[in-house]
Amino acid sequence: MSERTFTIIKPDSVEKGNTGKIIAHLEGEGFTILAGRMTHLSRTQAQGFYAVHKERPFYNDLVAYMTSGPVWVMALERDQAVPTLRKVMGATNPADADEGTVRKLYGESIERNAIHGSDSPENAAIEIGFFFPASDLA
Ligand code: CMP
Repeated sequence: MSERTFTIIKPDSVEKGNTGKIIAHLEGEGFTILAGRMTHLSRTQAQGFYAVHKERPFYNDLVAYMTSGPVWVMALERDQAVPTLRKVMGATNPADADEGTVRKLYGESIERNAIHGSDSPENAAIEIGFFFPASDLA
């Protein structure tokens, strides 16, 4: 069944010129881009987006990194979009990611790991709503 998920192409990917390759990789895996744009997260946006991690020791560094340069935010669709994107991204730490995954190909560390993907359909809806009005997704 068709499902939506949300992704961020992170600052390390944009900085290294990997945006197009990552988008092509996702399209090659059958994802349709419903909405997308380049943006530079404010500190308030990054703190809000990652609020679930605010007690973690890496939170402040994560917010600093995610605001360090522009990112691409996208709403994606395909069947089983959430689990499929997580498989296509690979493990959080690129060192542990399977060969051929986005994080293995383009990530450099557990923090600078190329891409974010929603971990559940519920969070995908919240994350999409964080960046896109419903009128962008029609
Ligand atoms: P993401 O999928 O965007 O969700 C939370 C992010 O926090 C994660 O990708 C990593 O970039 C980062 N992260 C998770 N665990 C760690 C860690 N142990 N140390 C540093 N950063 C982390």
